[in-house]
Amino acid sequence: MLTVEGIHTYYRDSHVLQGVSLQVTAGEIVALLGRNGVGKSTLIKSIIGFAPPRQGRIALRGIDVTRLPPHKRAQLGIGLVPQGRGIFPTLSAREHLTLAARRPAPGGRDGAMWTLERALTIFPPLEKRLGNLGGQLSGGEQQMLAIARALMTNPGLLLLDEPSEGLAPLLVQEIGRVLSELRAQSLSILLVEQNLPMALSLADRVYVMNKGQIVYTGLPADLQANEEVKHRYLGV
Ligand SMILES: Nc1ncnc2c1ncn2[C@@H]1O[C@H](COP(=O)(O)OP(=O)(O)OP(=O)(O)O)[C@@H](O)[C@H]1O
Ligand SMILES: [Mg+2]
Repeated sequence: MLTVEGIHTYYRDSHVLQGVSLQVTAGEIVALLGRNGVGKSTLIKSIIGFAPPRQGRIALRGIDVTRLPPHKRAQLGIGLVPQGRGIFPTLSAREHLTLAARRPAPGGRDGAMWTLERALTIFPPLEKRLGNLGGQLSGGEQQMLAIARALMTNPGLLLLDEPSEGLAPLLVQEIGRVLSELRAQSLSILLVEQNLPMALSLADRVYVMNKGQIVYTGLPADLQANEEVKHRYLGV
């Protein structure tokens, strides 16, 4: 579904991603872990096109998107749940969802199309909040709305940047339940997380980043058992 090959990404002359390669196969949840400031969000921004790499290659379903602007990548089926949720305080929840609605890219995804009704079946608490403004929602409701909004674009690949950030444990569990349900509905997911237990319980494979490079990749159980990597790169 997604192939990232040896990308180098800069902010002006600051060399943040230093040869990052990663893959997401169709229908899997891949977790990307790492401490603050190691470049996780920069990798997400390179994939969606906000911070395009200067070197390397990014392909979606075999289509080279490295030089495409963000809206073209989105049209090809990349959905984004940004860090901090990106909810508009003065738009209603319903407006967030209806504004985002888009048909799937041809050949971009499997499974039934996302509609407002279907998004509400996966996040029932949003239904009675549809008329509320983004700024009136709780953190958990905002996160659900941010995910539902991304689903309304009918993506084949969903990028989530720290969806558990700032949420109480029960809500983190709820978000986890939704992500595994989405995988069961054949969505491919790249999940950036600092919540190690959540990432390990959900992911099919994990990558660990440090200082702009991938320093570990493996199965969740292998990382769980690897005290050295956990200690060195995740501070646990
Ligand atoms: N727009 C920007 N301009 C310049 N430097 C930036 C910009 N965005 C991020 N950086 C720097 O790039 C590095 C990587 O940042 P990034 O946001 O990708 O980290 P992260 O792993 O997502 O961290 P966090 O866990 O805190 O979200 C950091 O040193 C950060 O200060
Ligand atoms: Mg980040």
